[in-house]
Amino acid sequence: MKLSVNIDHIATIRQARMANEPDPVYAAALAEMGGADGITVHLRQDRRHIQERDVEILRRVIKTRLNMEMAASMEMVKIALKYKPDVCTLVPESKDEVTTSGGLDIIMFADKVQEVAGNLLAAGIGVSLFIDPGVEQVKACHRLGIRIVELNTGDYAGNAGNSYARLELDKITKAANYAKKLNFTLLAGHGLTYQNIGPIAAMPEIEELNIGHSIVANAAFVGMKEAVARMKELLSC
Ligand code: PXP
Repeated sequence: MKLSVNIDHIATIRQARMANEPDPVYAAALAEMGGADGITVHLRQDRRHIQERDVEILRRVIKTRLNMEMAASMEMVKIALKYKPDVCTLVPESKDEVTTSGGLDIIMFADKVQEVAGNLLAAGIGVSLFIDPGVEQVKACHRLGIRIVELNTGDYAGNAGNSYARLELDKITKAANYAKKLNFTLLAGHGLTYQNIGPIAAMPEIEELNIGHSIVANAAFVGMKEAVARMKELLSC
């Protein structure tokens, strides 16, 4: 299973002091040395961590694939067209959230998603939709002609260790099977850690995981290269 490493929280540390370090570009290079298959950044509308400068340099420097998470807005489309990441992942975004909370509702926001995705696809940028694990959401993505989805594992991760986690894993499995039947490229992520990754890493339908916080937290102690290598090891068991 592939791993795209989300380096947002390296930028969070930098922005805490409005300083020049630590540089997420340096983190991306080390993540690739540790075996990352891709680098993910979320360019939030409030720019609380990743800045445009980071996207611009990462685009030129990284050797793997750049995935830019963004709100489904035309303001963000303009930026994406400028830097041309390999893939843009459309996520819901609200000012007060600590992190992305929940998937994008593709049924409710079908028109907006279609407009934004259409502009990105026309420019040769791949489009992935971050959705809660449900068959109806997968169907809605299919209706829009999108063929990459990232299933939100946040509710599973938040309940790992209690009985609710089993129900969430069932939801993820059902949505994953359905998406695979429709030939989607299937990704998953949010809240995954070294401790809770096992059941998700064991799902053959999922091709790639997006993991950030847990890897960055571990990197503070063992270094980014080692933190990524340890997570990769768990994905290959
Ligand atoms: N996938 C999406 C769509 C996200 O928004 C995030 C958080 O930015 C992640 C994955 C990674 O989540 P975490 O940092 O909890 O690993």
